[in-house]
Amino acid sequence: MKTEICKTLGIDVPIFAFSHCRDVVVEVSKAGGMGVLGCAGFTPEQLELELRWIQDKIGDRPFGIDVIMPKNYVGDDVPDLQAMIPEDHKAWVASVLRKYDIPELPDDYFADGSHHVSGEQIGWTHKICRQLIDTALKYPGMKVLVNALGTPPEDILQTCKEKGVKVGALAGKVKHAIAHKEGGLDFVIAQGHEGGGHTGDVTTMVLLPQVVDAVAPLPVLGAGGIASGRQAAAAMAMGAQGVWCGSVWLTTPESEVSPLPKKKLLAATSHDTVRTRMLSGKPARMLRSAWIDEWENKECPGFLPMPLQGILVQEANLRIDKAQSEELAFYPTGQVVGMTNDERDCRTIVFEMINDYIEAVERLTKTLEEE
Ligand SMILES: Cc1cc2nc3c(=O)[nH]c(=O)nc-3n(C[C@H](O)[C@H](O)[C@H](O)COP(=O)(O)O)c2cc1C
Repeated sequence: MKTEICKTLGIDVPIFAFSHCRDVVVEVSKAGGMGVLGCAGFTPEQLELELRWIQDKIGDRPFGIDVIMPKNYVGDDVPDLQAMIPEDHKAWVASVLRKYDIPELPDDYFADGSHHVSGEQIGWTHKICRQLIDTALKYPGMKVLVNALGTPPEDILQTCKEKGVKVGALAGKVKHAIAHKEGGLDFVIAQGHEGGGHTGDVTTMVLLPQVVDAVAPLPVLGAGGIASGRQAAAAMAMGAQGVWCGSVWLTTPESEVSPLPKKKLLAATSHDTVRTRMLSGKPARMLRSAWIDEWENKECPGFLPMPLQGILVQEANLRIDKAQSEELAFYPTGQVVGMTNDERDCRTIVFEMINDYIEAVERLTKTLEEE
């Protein structure tokens, strides 16, 4: 499973784990892949604690971070984002939470070690992302920076280059991938429609080979709908140098997902996800629940642009999680949720992916043999 990007990054296998959970990051890097910590939702101070822990546990293995620096959004120059949220949106969210009897958060909620922050501090603005990146660049094991929603600015690329950190970004369209190449990125992640989190409307099977051709010889990772070695082999057959997986780690014992959504993820089929603007204002795929369905009701005042939608729903989402509401509980996940029906640990998943990949490649190689 060795490709050029393995040599560039000093990893054994090109299996990249996107996760908001530090344990997943460490376990996948230690298993020979590359753990990448999703930083959205962390303050710079919280990220410092996470990265100190990761650096301490990970030994000499590399890791990365992922930020959400959107290309198009309501900018940092807006002094008070909270004040831009319409009252009728807040009232509607409150009415839905009342309808399902979702209690307020306890007074000591944010003091109990919760990773999340409140209001305008949400990590979807350039101002916060820059602080997160500065924090991460201090750690010697940090070798990869990825941006979810656009080409990172030139000065960030320059600083990363000086520190030997490779920079990539997700692309849901060929034109985004070309912009990343023209912007000077080191690699591109082509993420198809079926993936968890923010995702476009073209599937991985169709998007990936087009991105590979459009940005060649830049390395491309395939993302969206990859949870097994067979799927990794398919991505690599289409020209990818590796795979970038998010959903497959959510049902591991290491994962950050709390018990109720995890139970729902384990039971879900590939038909149980939906793309919605509820979480951030941009389309993201997640497990369907009554909370997601409420946003399609005719009384709903509609979605706000990023980052206002995220600020609008942040506390509601924490309350739903804290209440462990069977009806409302959701979690961002891709269609491969239908393949993750048991709680395997990260290391086992990496090893099974490698074995499954080998079997797939051997099976394909046999098709070349003469009768
Ligand atoms: C719970 C969850 C949260 C995600 N959050 C982010 C994020 O903050 N930044 C990002 O670049 N991608 C994010 N993604 C997308 C992943 O990086 C990845 O592209 C995607 O999960 C791949 O598709 P898969 O879910 O089918 O593996 C998220 C995915 C999931 C499942």
